[in-house]
Amino acid sequence: MPSLNEIRSTFLNFFERNGHEVVESSPLVPRNDPTLMFANSGMVQFKNLFTGVEHRDYTRATTAQKCVRAGGKHNDLDNVGYTARHHTFFEMLGNFSFGDYFKEEAIPFAWDVVTKEFGINKDRLLVTVYHDDDEAAAIWKKYAGLPDERIIRIATDDNFWMMGPTGPCGPSSEIFYDHGDHIWGGPPGSPEEDGDRFIEIWNLVFMQFEQYEDGHRENLPKPSIDTGMGLERIGALLQGKHDNYDTDLMRALIEASAHATSTEPDGTGNVHHRVIADHLRSTSFLIADGVMPSNEGRGYVLRRIMRRAMRHAHLLGAQDPLMHRLVPSLVTQMGAAYPELGRAQALIEETLKLEETRFIQTLERGLRLLDDELARLPEGAALPGEAAFKLYDTYGFPLDLTQDALREKGRKVDVAGFDAAMEEQRAKARASWAGSGETKDAAIWFDLADKKGATEFLGYDTEKAEGQIVAVVRDGAALDAADKGDSVQVVVNQTPFYAESGGQVGDTGTLKTETGRARITDTRKVAGVFLHFAEVTEGRIEPGQGAELEVDHARRAAIRANHSATHLLHEALRGTLGEHVAQRGSLNAEDRLRFDFSHSKALSEEELARVEAEVNGFIRQNTPVETRIMTPDDARAIGAQALFGEKYGDEVRVVSMGRAPTGKGADGNTWSIELCGGTHVRQTGDIGLCVVLGDSASSSGVRRIEALTGEAALRHLIGQQRSLGQVAEALKAQPAEIVERVRALVDERRALQNEVAQLRRELAMAGGGGQAAAEPETVNGVKFLAQALSGVSGKDLPALIDEHKARLGSGAVLLVADAGGKAAVAAGVTDDLTGLVSAVDLVKAAVAQLGGKGGGGRPDMAQGGGKDAANAEAAIAAAKSVIEGA
Ligand code: ALA
Repeated sequence: MPSLNEIRSTFLNFFERNGHEVVESSPLVPRNDPTLMFANSGMVQFKNLFTGVEHRDYTRATTAQKCVRAGGKHNDLDNVGYTARHHTFFEMLGNFSFGDYFKEEAIPFAWDVVTKEFGINKDRLLVTVYHDDDEAAAIWKKYAGLPDERIIRIATDDNFWMMGPTGPCGPSSEIFYDHGDHIWGGPPGSPEEDGDRFIEIWNLVFMQFEQYEDGHRENLPKPSIDTGMGLERIGALLQGKHDNYDTDLMRALIEASAHATSTEPDGTGNVHHRVIADHLRSTSFLIADGVMPSNEGRGYVLRRIMRRAMRHAHLLGAQDPLMHRLVPSLVTQMGAAYPELGRAQALIEETLKLEETRFIQTLERGLRLLDDELARLPEGAALPGEAAFKLYDTYGFPLDLTQDALREKGRKVDVAGFDAAMEEQRAKARASWAGSGETKDAAIWFDLADKKGATEFLGYDTEKAEGQIVAVVRDGAALDAADKGDSVQVVVNQTPFYAESGGQVGDTGTLKTETGRARITDTRKVAGVFLHFAEVTEGRIEPGQGAELEVDHARRAAIRANHSATHLLHEALRGTLGEHVAQRGSLNAEDRLRFDFSHSKALSEEELARVEAEVNGFIRQNTPVETRIMTPDDARAIGAQALFGEKYGDEVRVVSMGRAPTGKGADGNTWSIELCGGTHVRQTGDIGLCVVLGDSASSSGVRRIEALTGEAALRHLIGQQRSLGQVAEALKAQPAEIVERVRALVDERRALQNEVAQLRRELAMAGGGGQAAAEPETVNGVKFLAQALSGVSGKDLPALIDEHKARLGSGAVLLVADAGGKAAVAAGVTDDLTGLVSAVDLVKAAVAQLGGKGGGGRPDMAQGGGKDAANAEAAIAAAKSVIEGA
């Protein structure tokens, strides 16, 4: 009896032998289709290959594709647990031809797989074809030798497959297995077709058309093939079971659930185990693909599935969180085929545990409220919408959880009433922001958030994705379109662009639709709505269009490196300077990083060097950067750094990096743990290098460090190296000798300057330098020495004045120096004469002649300056008349 893992391999190997590329399953969150909530069939990742928009180096492929059908168009959630073949998560096996082979080969391939590879008895098989597809019918007849009565023509949509309202589509042909007349049911197309006797096992779609929004179809460039076979179904068949949940893989999970709850796998608890087994798969795979529980979009679907499983765990009597304990069994079963599961195991376990821990706190009270409500209602009456809304709003019961709980009691919920209560709450929220003083321009964002929901951010996992344009806005008003040359803000339902927050700048990149292109110059967010600042560069962009969004990868990589380096820097500063260091602000741009932190004095050279060395040590350590979701309390308990005074929600993103023997975290070995919504490198080594440029004062008690990483850091160092080389060349020295040589030069220069100053003074005293020899004259009985000097600076004057005063013994001195056209003046009066005449008055009189103002000092020594050194003689004459008048 083959296991599901063996069946998967048999299928893939068959097609590989037949020239097909074995392609990995795409992630559950479609990157290339904004209208789809989750990948729901194998062809989703190949959509653009069918339409001819994209080409790859293969034209035949085969996959085992992870699929989730919960939320959105295909929603099987409500039935899971109660039926033999419903799943929220399943695997679809498929083979694909992109314009390569068509029906003539697809049908024989399928027949060979089913009858030869899987060895199914051909007498048990029958097929359907689209009513006018004579070609397919003929091939079945010829190749499989099926009689006409086992080739059933179906005229309905059952045999015309469409991916969705638009996209590739075509007639299909399905293979059915007849379980035998001991089971009730009729062949496809008969009134009894819904019975369980005839089970569809494989759908072959002959892709021929592309359907457009207005309903018209066009031929695909080349006819193609898309097939889909549910692994769980074929597994049940090959293992001789009627129920998918009796296959080896599902059974192992059911047994794990029974073991963990000390209950029987079968009997009364069986439904609960089935729900748990199925939901364990969908939730784990969703988390592994980057979905996190939230109250919006995909995250909310995940939360609904999780909580539904948790209620069933509760029904089994589990007191403590259960789901996370089953993850190892799932990894054992499916980890080899899907390595992402093992890689994300810790994250999956933590996320499930957190959600369950939180939900258990309200689950019981909610269930009690539900019982009380039911007790008050007449027998069989539906639960009022108000009560269901209260369960949702206060106790975190998703509507389908309440419906599931009522199902066992044969009751329903008044869904219209629930919707009305929900709308009322929204209206209240609207009223409250309307009154919150937001500007008119901002109103549109709140309105969009309310009507269309928050933008889903895909950018932690991808930098390229498709989104659907929800609105095109200019100056707070929605537009019908934006044309070439327009600057607008574009809102999409999902985006890989990071919107500026937490110090990290917004992404830039490009946006493309069928009719136009735009450059995205910035991304910001308001009320959860992402605003892509767009300059339309080609054609026209309209709301409702699908848009291909691509982030500028190199720029994002540089931003990522700076952001991660900031975390390392923060921790290194705390380690070096002390625990008082707290983040006060930061900037993570593409070209640099800036980090402001509380610390009152400048960092010493050694402190800076130590911080820099430590950061680079962790970069070279090259360990993975981990991201988890936790409650703020749990995050603090493991030592996460949070921004003081910041408001955090119920759940926070926690980014950890670096291994250290005495670190933080649950393991005590994590170097940096911070609450952070930003994007980060995968491994610390991706930062490359960090160069600290220096530290400065940002504001009182706050220092600022600026640094470079990666390419920018390298360029900086290379630039410095080059300058150093030039200096060495100018000095005619080896780079290693530079410091010594420069020091020697500086010393030498200082000595020479002193020597020159001394010589100048001596020259001036001796009346050299072209001046007349300084001879005093007697004015009003006072010996007065005046001199106009050149080549002497203002700062040399006081020393000269002193020297002249000493030589005169008693008298007054006035010196006017020509300092590059400007004049510097100094006057001195020996102490015995200061009662008669003041140096200050002499300077003031001189300065007035030199086109200056003021001048000052003491009676024995004063200084001043003027604009016009040419008037030195007049200045001397003015000083002289001051003495004359004394
Ligand atoms: N895409 C087809 C399906 O999902 C094969 O059934």
